[in-house]
Amino acid sequence: MISSVLLISLYFLRFSSAHVVHAKTTINETCINYGRNYDCRFYQCYEERFPCGPSYWMLKWGYKYCDRMQRAAFNFDKTGQELIKKLSQCLTNKLLRHGLYKFHDINCEVLRSTGQRIVQECYMSNAKLFCQAYHGRNRDCFFQLTDSDDRHDLNVIRTMTSVGQKCSPKKKLSDMKPNKKMNQCLLTPTL
Ligand SMILES: *[C@@H]1O[C@H](CO)[C@@H](O)[C@H](O)[C@H]1NC(C)=O
Repeated sequence: MISSVLLISLYFLRFSSAHVVHAKTTINETCINYGRNYDCRFYQCYEERFPCGPSYWMLKWGYKYCDRMQRAAFNFDKTGQELIKKLSQCLTNKLLRHGLYKFHDINCEVLRSTGQRIVQECYMSNAKLFCQAYHGRNRDCFFQLTDSDDRHDLNVIRTMTSVGQKCSPKKKLSDMKPNKKMNQCLLTPTL
């Protein structure tokens, strides 16, 4: 009984203290330049300075999809590649402009919601390109590089729904999946 109360308290203590993280490295110009050059290592550097952990935005979304999209870029056509480039530029630009990297302490939850908001903003500001690029092979490759759990994330659904509204004709979530019979993406799932 006592030990389970202790365990539960320890659990909550760990949980709540995990939200605020002190900077573990100095502000690193190499890292900032990664951000300026849309280099995915920027996200890793960020995580080294503020180790929120693999379940938080920086690794689970920022780094993972930056890396996957850049590795898979050759599978997309020119418009798809342009979209990937514009999105990754937009994301690191906004992360840099937010200036959180230079803080001494960071709340991982704040960083998470900032990341989610930035993704939404970047898709919306590139909606025109998204609408041009997101069909056929590009759509299937894009879909293929997302983990199925992540596709069910509410923020992803919100972002995809709102960007789809910007297209004419409007794209629904169901239009954003590959046709069941034919996946046009050649991407080998060795990511
Ligand atoms: C800055 O980051 C780069 C890349 O991660 C690393 O190689 C370098 O040692 C870091 N510099 C300092 C002063 O920590």
